[in-house]
Amino acid sequence: MALLRTIGLTKDFGALRALDQVDLEVQEGTLHSVVGPNGAGKTTLFNLISGFIKPTEGKVEFNNREITHLPPHQMAHLGIRRSFQIITLFPELTALENVRLAIQARGKERFSLFKKASDLRECLAQSHEILRTLGLAEKAEHKACELSHGEQRLLDIGVAMAGEGILLLLDEPTSGLAHDEIPMMAETIKRLTPKHTVVLIEHRVDMVLSISDTITVIDFGRVIAQGPPEVIQNSEEVSRAYLGVR
Ligand SMILES: Nc1ncnc2c1ncn2[C@@H]1O[C@H](COP(=O)(O)OP(=O)(O)OP(=O)(O)O)[C@@H](O)[C@H]1O
Ligand SMILES: [Mg+2]
Repeated sequence: MALLRTIGLTKDFGALRALDQVDLEVQEGTLHSVVGPNGAGKTTLFNLISGFIKPTEGKVEFNNREITHLPPHQMAHLGIRRSFQIITLFPELTALENVRLAIQARGKERFSLFKKASDLRECLAQSHEILRTLGLAEKAEHKACELSHGEQRLLDIGVAMAGEGILLLLDEPTSGLAHDEIPMMAETIKRLTPKHTVVLIEHRVDMVLSISDTITVIDFGRVIAQGPPEVIQNSEEVSRAYLGVR
């Protein structure tokens, strides 16, 4: 099933058409990467999908429901979550507390006052599960500020993961990471599927080719290729646009 669909998504900034008639279909439980040269329109696509900006034309559907005109907080509530490049953790709280707070904040009606001890137990169990998925189980009781840069970035993803049926939008999660932290990040992102659905913007072509189920290539705001890694790797159009062979 397509969890996310964009239909003819177009965004103009004044005279500049940053995105031009983008049709995207992200299947539930898959890792779908979006690649393209600098300024191709990738972050603009995320801004549109998460409601931070509104399209000039076209629409966004989530779970077969049109959501184009919902405000960002409602989109987040439905399950469209974005990790930001500026990490937004509570530095003095532990890794576990950071995730737990996110779960509580998201499930207000369920966990608000911990009316029942079972709610608290469920909330904690979910928090531990998220940390385990991210390979952070052993860091549960460490303060966020004590974690490495890569671990903080993972925890930031964890904060976005609270809940079911989540679509995670990750914009260059490897940027600023030390070289030896990158394989760990790539493996962890892969491990988020199929429980979660991930759309990944990433400059590292090798990484994208090795972990993605589907890749969409954007150049000058247009989709120039779309398909599984094998197809993208052999596409002449992609070599021309993305590998700089113009
Ligand atoms: N708010 C804005 N106002 C005006 N122009 C914008 C705005 N946001 C983006 N643009 C322009 O739209 C185009 C696409 O930008 P975008 O940030 O989506 O590219 P990108 O693919 O994410 O690039 P990068 O790989 O460098 O992150 C660029 O030419 C950019 O300058
Ligand atoms: Mg960008």
